[in-house]
Amino acid sequence: MFYWGIKMESILANFTMALVSDDVKVIDATGKFVMPGGIDPHTHLAMEFMGTETIDDFFSGQAAALAGGTTMHIDFVIPVNDSLIAGLETYEEKAKKSCMDYGFHMAITKFDDIVSRDMEIIVKEKGINSFKFFLAYKGSLMVNDELLLEGLKRCKSLGALAMVHAENGDAVFEGQKRMIQLGIFGPEGHALSRPPVLEGEATARAIRLAGFVNTPLYVVHVMSIDAMEEIAKARKSGQRVVGEPVVSGLVLDDSGLWDSDFTTASKYVMSPPIRASGHDKALQGALSNGVLQLVGTDHCVFNSTQKAFGIDDFRKIPNGVNGIEERMHLVWDTMVESGQISITDYVRVTSTECARIFNIYPRKGAIIAGSDADIIILNPNSSFEINARSHHSRTDTNVYEGRRGKGKVEVTIARGRVVWENNELKVVPGSGKYIEMPPFNYLFSGIDKADASYLSSLNAPVKRSKSTT
Ligand code: URP
Ligand code: ZN
Ligand code: ZN
Ligand code: ZN
Repeated sequence: MFYWGIKMESILANFTMALVSDDVKVIDATGKFVMPGGIDPHTHLAMEFMGTETIDDFFSGQAAALAGGTTMHIDFVIPVNDSLIAGLETYEEKAKKSCMDYGFHMAITKFDDIVSRDMEIIVKEKGINSFKFFLAYKGSLMVNDELLLEGLKRCKSLGALAMVHAENGDAVFEGQKRMIQLGIFGPEGHALSRPPVLEGEATARAIRLAGFVNTPLYVVHVMSIDAMEEIAKARKSGQRVVGEPVVSGLVLDDSGLWDSDFTTASKYVMSPPIRASGHDKALQGALSNGVLQLVGTDHCVFNSTQKAFGIDDFRKIPNGVNGIEERMHLVWDTMVESGQISITDYVRVTSTECARIFNIYPRKGAIIAGSDADIIILNPNSSFEINARSHHSRTDTNVYEGRRGKGKVEVTIARGRVVWENNELKVVPGSGKYIEMPPFNYLFSGIDKADASYLSSLNAPVKRSKSTT
């Protein structure tokens, strides 16, 4: 009741105070927008990767998120020695210090009877409803087409959403060798070694295989026109494909990778790479016209000491950029301030659609009776400025350094607690809750009917082949 009071008063900013009792905090939101807290569908907190570990853990990364108006995130569990259960246990431990609500996706790095059985346990008992397949990172996380097909079939039978990191890992490996042979060792070699065509190819392949299995597909971090156009084509034909751009792809171009200062250039290294100017604008367009549906960050930060592992060889630069704190501001400024999307669309792409896809709507992604009170107040007339000095992430660089824009999240309320107000964070380790996500989201509805009509279309040939034997 107490929390509901805050919610109502925030919405009805100027409404009479007589409505609520004395123990209710009243926040004046006159002239501001009261919206559901952001949900970031794609983060990597405390992830062991490329010989090191991301420097934001489940406390620092989430604190940064809350300061930027995001009240929930979904992180990727990486199996330990290919074991899903061991991986989940590791992440459960990491997440004990959480100060914000969170959920998990699970990466699949191997497929056998044990993995297949564990996928069922993960979905039915552990509250995870999505599995990610990396088509890149040859030699570590990468899976081949045979494994992807097995994984897609298993996802379908469990009602779990298959997600792909779509780059052709074999061709990336070849591209990297090419750069080294040419004597290109710097961060620009990262982008040159894995051009958009390799993202387009893998996106198309994953889409076609998901279509062949007839199961929904979620393409993470769509960074190029090439990948986006494959998604557009599939959606136009009626296939259930979700495309997730990330903030870095929407607002940055690759020019930073050519900076002569290694610390500056290396901070932009992520995969798929940040593309040449033009891809960013095209992705914005795709977000505004619905080809792409929700915005993530792929928040995966390494400090400049960690990035310097690759000072002599771009292949050793840990891949990843920041964004968990900046997402809500940059999407507002880039998309709403510019008139490319409406305020309602903003709520959809930063919060509601994520809640729907991961089947936790309307507990999350909405402000209605019964929802968790995850609420932000955004002042459209205030402005933000981003820099590594004042951000809340533990990393010492920021890929959006110096950026200013309009629209500032002034208040963040996480499950009824005011955690960000007057530029001050009030967060408590251990207060964040694990959000279980049930299988069979809306993308699965009608899938069985399509299967039935496919089978009946095979009826005639089946009869024919039977009668000839
Ligand atoms: O560069 C990136 N994206 N690092 C995180 C791992 C991934 O591919 O999502
Ligand atoms: Zn990825
Ligand atoms: Zn990622
Ligand atoms: Zn901040």
